[in-house]
Amino acid sequence: MAKKYTVLETWIVNECKPEESTSAEQTFGRMGQQAGGKLPVIDVPQDFREDAHVFDEARVRDFVSALPNAEKVLDIGFGDGWPLLRIAPFFSSVVGVDASQRRVDATQANIAKLGLANVTVKCQSSTKLEFRDASFDGVVAATAIEQSPDPYTALREVFRVLKPGGRFRILFESYDQQDKGIAERVFLTENEDFLGFHYALRHNPPPWERNYLVKFNNTPETREAFKKLADLIERIGPNPALNPEVGIQFLELNQPAIAGASWYELEHFTSATMKQTLEEIGFVGVRVCYSAATLAKTLWPRVKDAGLTEAQVKDMLAGLADVAVRLEAPFGSGEPVSAVKPS
Ligand SMILES: C[S@@+](CC[C@H](N)C(=O)[O-])C[C@H]1O[C@@H](n2cnc3c(N)ncnc32)[C@H](O)[C@@H]1O
Repeated sequence: MAKKYTVLETWIVNECKPEESTSAEQTFGRMGQQAGGKLPVIDVPQDFREDAHVFDEARVRDFVSALPNAEKVLDIGFGDGWPLLRIAPFFSSVVGVDASQRRVDATQANIAKLGLANVTVKCQSSTKLEFRDASFDGVVAATAIEQSPDPYTALREVFRVLKPGGRFRILFESYDQQDKGIAERVFLTENEDFLGFHYALRHNPPPWERNYLVKFNNTPETREAFKKLADLIERIGPNPALNPEVGIQFLELNQPAIAGASWYELEHFTSATMKQTLEEIGFVGVRVCYSAATLAKTLWPRVKDAGLTEAQVKDMLAGLADVAVRLEAPFGSGEPVSAVKPS
């Protein structure tokens, strides 16, 4: 394991001997629903009185506008079906891959609920796509490539499965605005099997993230201890750097109930390193361009009380997306990146 940075990290590594895992297994395979079960259209009816629903629609239109004339599109790491199920009506067929079987099952249920007939989902890792070369006219990914254990291999796979002239639009968690140094966070989860003590470390530069999960047997005693820790975190905040002894004390006191631990590390990107990586792989026309949601955030407050119909809002956002994907954004703005596989 790489260098340890904090006292808490050192304690977990030495005392719990965490097994190496992946984000798909440790994080997304354990979630009930993504986005708190609030995805418009997928989880809840779309309602443009909610600003978040307007910006969500803008992001969806963004992917559509970025792939003109595409018929067959791949979405990598769709979670509960975003943007996969939202872009499906705009293309002949859409295929999604996600490395977590739980997310695949959740999306399969959402496909049935929405009655979509042109969507296929598969449990596959982005690092080993089981598709022939040149299978897709377009590929999209929303905060998923950087969740893979090897994002460089995943991006090479995107290049391979795209047809010549095919386009790639990636929305990623950009580290352009991440503070320098180490940022730490503790949070707690509960599921059927165990109580989870999570410790997340973010580092910049270079940009990376490490996530530890310490599992505790789910008993009345540990539930009580977790409740007390949750109250404490609520009061003093989730950053253990400010009170390093709190995490250690909790872990030491409850050590007999520890049932296992795991960890994974992610490599992150800035706009510049994403552009550079895509160009090294062979993509051309690599551009950081505005998201329609960014433009909508400026425009929407001026028109939201104008009594637009749903159809008019959608038309406006589609137009905005057509403009956005052509508008180059400055590096460091955290905007999505578009790229083309040469013909
Ligand atoms: C942050 S979520 C994003 C989900 C969805 N795109 C959204 O925006 O709501 C990341 C997703 O990537 C998936 N994932 C993680 N590693 C992966 C891999 N190697 N291959 C494919 N999917 C992966 C996770 O299971 C999770 O569903």
